[in-house]
Amino acid sequence: MISGLTEEMVQKPTVTSANIVVRKASMKDIAPLLDLINDYAAKGIMLARTEFELSENMRDFWVAYEGWKLIGCGALHFYSPTMGEVRSLAVAESHKKYGIGRLIVDAIVREAWDYNLDAVFAFTYVPGFFAKVGFNEIERGELPLKAWKDCLRCPKFHNCDEIAVLRVLQPERWEQRQSVPKVFGVEGGTVVLLPSIRRAAGNYGL
Ligand SMILES: CC(C)(COP(=O)(O)OP(=O)(O)OC[C@H]1O[C@@H](n2cnc3c(N)ncnc32)[C@H](O)[C@@H]1OP(=O)(O)O)[C@@H](O)C(=O)NCCC(=O)NCCS
Repeated sequence: MISGLTEEMVQKPTVTSANIVVRKASMKDIAPLLDLINDYAAKGIMLARTEFELSENMRDFWVAYEGWKLIGCGALHFYSPTMGEVRSLAVAESHKKYGIGRLIVDAIVREAWDYNLDAVFAFTYVPGFFAKVGFNEIERGELPLKAWKDCLRCPKFHNCDEIAVLRVLQPERWEQRQSVPKVFGVEGGTVVLLPSIRRAAGNYGL
């Protein structure tokens, strides 16, 4: 396996009894993805995405289809060797509350396991949904500062009302990581863990 996209995922996407297919996205999904995500963005519920951004990040995405209709999406974005973010999660209004969101999150969490991540997090307005799919609310400060890089261009940057949620996949490693002192610095305009701390963290298998 070269990436998290296994042959099995391509050949055997998740098919539910309602004839809904959940699979990794491909470039031909970009146009319907833009419609789905940016409809919610226009209502202030999600962050808008451009065609360029989607193209660049298409390997992060999962899509759910009913026949030819895109009915849901979500993405796993890597932040560090141990952390990933669930983002751009959306289910079409017409298909909400039929278990599609759960199917997509399950696929993303399986992928995070395949990549050996310790935990996945999300920033959300729907903590109730994330609680149902195994996430817990946490203080934003518990997340790596690098997670805030998207926030800098968010219109709600100074008035953020999103809630941080986390699902730990490797409890022992996660606990160990919490006990390592964190010191942050700026590298290439992005806030990151300083190298000395990275090395120390490496001693803890992080
Ligand atoms: C949030 C969203 C993805 C949920 O998708 P969905 O397909 O409707 O969710 P599911 O049907 O899989 O629901 C799974 C469980 O969560 C619950 N749930 C769904 N939406 C919920 C909500 N807004 N608040 C609380 N619980 C919710 C369901 O009742 C279900 O519970 P159950 O297992 O006890 O039956 C969808 O409402 C959506 O696209 N919202 C707009 C975009 C958005 O807010 N995205 C999140 C960005 S982080």
